[in-house]
Amino acid sequence: MKNPPRGVFPGSLLRRDMATISENDIELLDRWDIPGPRYTSYPTALCFHDGFRETEYRAEVAQRRTEAGNEPLSLYVHLPFCEKLCFFCGCNKWVTLNREKIDRYVDDLLLEIAMEREIHGPRPVEQLHWGGGTPTWLDAEQRMRVMDALKAAFPFLPDGESEISIEADPRNLPEGTVTGLRELGFNRLSLGVQDFDLAVQEAVNRVQPAELSLRAIDEARAAGFHGVSVDLIYGLPKQTEASFRRTVEGVAQAAPDRISIFSYFHRPQMFSPQKCIEEGDLPTPEVKRMLFAAAVDVLTSHGYTALGMDHFVREGDDLLEAARAGTMHRNFQGYSTRADRDLVALGVTAIGRTDGAFWQKSKDLKEWAESVRAGRLPIARGLQLTDEDKLRREIIASVMCRLELVFDDFADRVPNFPKRFEKELALLKPMVDDKLLEIDEKGLRVKPLGRFVVKIIAGAFDEHTPPGLAKISGRQAT
Ligand SMILES: C[S@@+](CC[C@H](N)C(=O)[O-])C[C@H]1O[C@@H](n2cnc3c(N)ncnc32)[C@H](O)[C@@H]1O
Ligand code: SF4
Repeated sequence: MKNPPRGVFPGSLLRRDMATISENDIELLDRWDIPGPRYTSYPTALCFHDGFRETEYRAEVAQRRTEAGNEPLSLYVHLPFCEKLCFFCGCNKWVTLNREKIDRYVDDLLLEIAMEREIHGPRPVEQLHWGGGTPTWLDAEQRMRVMDALKAAFPFLPDGESEISIEADPRNLPEGTVTGLRELGFNRLSLGVQDFDLAVQEAVNRVQPAELSLRAIDEARAAGFHGVSVDLIYGLPKQTEASFRRTVEGVAQAAPDRISIFSYFHRPQMFSPQKCIEEGDLPTPEVKRMLFAAAVDVLTSHGYTALGMDHFVREGDDLLEAARAGTMHRNFQGYSTRADRDLVALGVTAIGRTDGAFWQKSKDLKEWAESVRAGRLPIARGLQLTDEDKLRREIIASVMCRLELVFDDFADRVPNFPKRFEKELALLKPMVDDKLLEIDEKGLRVKPLGRFVVKIIAGAFDEHTPPGLAKISGRQAT
């Protein structure tokens, strides 16, 4: 945001007054459970096109290099391999037991790191994230080769000033591995847990004893990680309110700093492994909402605060402080305490950004590898942002992160906000009627229950992805 938050509305932005969600609330949220982007970026990746390739990318980076000087960078490294296939998975991954295949990928990644270093120059790194796939499916030597190459290419800010995070699968963390990750320089660990219940685990082909996950949390704490977070999913086959309550309770007792409760995104046409899931085992939409309500109930009773749609954080966590101060940001990994930096994307399917553009590396492993071996940057698609995109990005970020829009914050570019965004504000009327948000002459404020559908509220300002808007319009018309 350009301007500091002013908070036109009385009361705290983050209320704790939602320890329970009533049946009426569940019905209401069901009505607004419309598929739509989660706005980890705006415009979203759906808008990228193949008119933005290597030439456009090189021009964008060259311009940024002059403007940005020695401003810190963020790096994202995609490590797409996994040991086993989880049937629910919607990530960009390849299952392989072939260590040499991963070795070859690491070789190619090192070439790509060198090429990116050449065009970005030695800008310091403030944030690094290893995502996947499963970065911990690389063995210790492979992990060290990647980290050494990154550190040789770019100067890293000291541990206390940087966020160096990795996504880990507790099934690939034999004893001592978590400590090894800390020694390698990681200071934030994100653990894929999903559900503790054996029937659920069997239904999704991911049998993962709870002890493995709980041990990883303890080890991370002992190894001095600055933050540990856990991913859970609600809406998986065979989940019941009682079983999910037990899962969330078990995780909350281990007290990780953050817990994400993701809504299961089931699109078997898009993600073929999901065809292995028996549709009849999936919870009904009503039960799915009850699962979420149960999670909110358990987590608030353990002192967690809900942030945005699906993040829950413990008191004292810096993300909670940032949310309270109105300085929380949203990036491809979700919510963050840090403002967006130029993001260098490394690895197949990885997405990068500058203030003025987004781009994505090739999604095809072979094409990506051939390109880097030939000395070409494998930029497959991207988008140059217009001033209108940037304005709407700020508006959407304000709704997603601060749960409010203060019209005066945009006064320099939009002297009359209600007039300029008359259509968008009108689209939100049915949600105002449902008491999910309020709008007055000073701004828009998301109400406590509205945070769980905040992406739909933010979507009203999305010019590029019409489905959410169209559905909101449809509701308005009926
Ligand atoms: C790259 S994985 C995390 C690291 C590691 N591969 C693992 O699974 O432990 C990212 C997270 O995405 C979430 N996820 C994957 N597929 C999903 C889906 N279809 N719907 C909702 N969340 C999903 C899971 O919670 C998972 O932990
Ligand atoms: S959820 Fe994680 S471990 Fe499972 S297939 Fe997807 S990326 Fe791999």
